[in-house]
Amino acid sequence: MMSSKYGQELQIEVSGASHAPTIEIVMRGIPAGVKVDMEEVQAFLNRRKGGQNAYSTKRAEADTPHVESGLDETPKGFITNGQPLKAVFYNSNTRSSDYEQMRYVPRPSHADFTSYVKYGDSMDRSGGGMFSGRMTLPICFAGAVAMQIMEKRGISIFAHVASIGNIKDDSFNPVNPDPNSVPRKEGYFPAINKSARDRMVGYMTACAGDGDSVGGSVECAITGLPAGVGEPLYDSMESTIAHMMFGIPAVKGIEFGSGFKCGTMKGSECNDPFIIKDGHVATETNHSGGIQGGISNGMPVILRVCFKPTPSIYKEQRTVNMKELTETTLTLAGRHDPCIVPRAVPCVEAACAIAVYNLLVKYDEQQEKAAIDLEKAQEGDNGAVHNIESLRGQIDSVDTELAALISKRMDLAGQIAEEKVKAGLQIQNPGREAEVLEHVSKVAGFEKGTYVKEVYKSLIAQTRKYEEDF
Ligand SMILES: Cc1cc2nc3c(=O)[nH]c(=O)nc-3n(C[C@H](O)[C@H](O)[C@H](O)COP(=O)(O)O)c2cc1C
Repeated sequence: MMSSKYGQELQIEVSGASHAPTIEIVMRGIPAGVKVDMEEVQAFLNRRKGGQNAYSTKRAEADTPHVESGLDETPKGFITNGQPLKAVFYNSNTRSSDYEQMRYVPRPSHADFTSYVKYGDSMDRSGGGMFSGRMTLPICFAGAVAMQIMEKRGISIFAHVASIGNIKDDSFNPVNPDPNSVPRKEGYFPAINKSARDRMVGYMTACAGDGDSVGGSVECAITGLPAGVGEPLYDSMESTIAHMMFGIPAVKGIEFGSGFKCGTMKGSECNDPFIIKDGHVATETNHSGGIQGGISNGMPVILRVCFKPTPSIYKEQRTVNMKELTETTLTLAGRHDPCIVPRAVPCVEAACAIAVYNLLVKYDEQQEKAAIDLEKAQEGDNGAVHNIESLRGQIDSVDTELAALISKRMDLAGQIAEEKVKAGLQIQNPGREAEVLEHVSKVAGFEKGTYVKEVYKSLIAQTRKYEEDF
């Protein structure tokens, strides 16, 4: 079985293959009523297109999405209708004959050998089949849609070529990456530093001229993400992004923030000091790459993805014949990218968009639940206010009765005092007082007895004072 689904909240499922008639994607979880700018989607897909320069494959395809469901064309533009969003891409510029020589002779480091072992002869591996870089086209479609939705809430995702071979571009400012530092144009090699860009393009073109390929890396920034996104332990921000990212063929590594460099640093160098910026908690540096404990901390998420050199090269390579179990050599025909990295830039952005969208839906659900809980708690407070008011009412009635009874008791005590005076007896009777205190303490019970006794002591004293005063 091939696993071609990703995500829960925003689920994507891809099907088709490089040289099949079509490649399809179904997106589930896009809400109804969302406007999708299809021209922007197409512009995004065009950034991934091949056939445009000396350092990409000569295979040229229209890469136009044919939307079969989930989107209605209205006078206001394309609006989602809540149904699964299905897009189909037609493969027209195929040359399967290029791949006949490789039916049983796998390209070193491509998926030809492993897919043959796992899926056998039945799988169509021409053009790389399901393992082709072309399968990132539907990913870019889904990513472009997800990105448009997230951009409306201020979340931006942008990437550039960070390195080709040993030539490095400038890095994003980790605490404030600039989305305008790299023009997002079709056919444009997306690098920040012009001189590095020229050297990288020169090196790729030279490798291509030599029939070889070269690897490199992409740096991506996600800005505008609130703190609190990510579901540790196992659906953390890093694992969710990495899971999606490794669905892009040729990805060999991913690092967040200072990544592997953290392993060379001291805590005092690597820790990101907390500061208050514009009334919010922020960090002064961003070695964490905007993620701590698998949860976004509100700083830009910065990550780098490493791509291996394109496995299909035109130099003679040692390989085997899988059917005959003999060693042989392979010199490829066909059209290939001498370097995957420039075309992979929008793929990395798209993978981030799909992963982050999934986590954002969970985050929103939690925020919504927290708001409901808060409302309930406030309702609970109002309930408590009602209770207090009702109990106070009961106390008021008890007090009305109690004050009248105390007053009555004082009158009775006064009458006794008068009788004592008449009889020439002593008014104070400590024995009788002790008897009263014992009695009321028993009536009040074990817990409250002592307290009631004290109240009665005071009552007896006040009664005496009343008798003296009047
Ligand atoms: C945008 C893109 C374009 C690619 N183009 C090619 C190509 O032209 N030739 C090739 O051999 N591999 C190409 N690949 C890489 C292979 O698909 C990949 O190396 C292969 O499926 C084996 O998978 P793995 O490298 O992840 O192990 C491309 C990958 C991407 C993302």
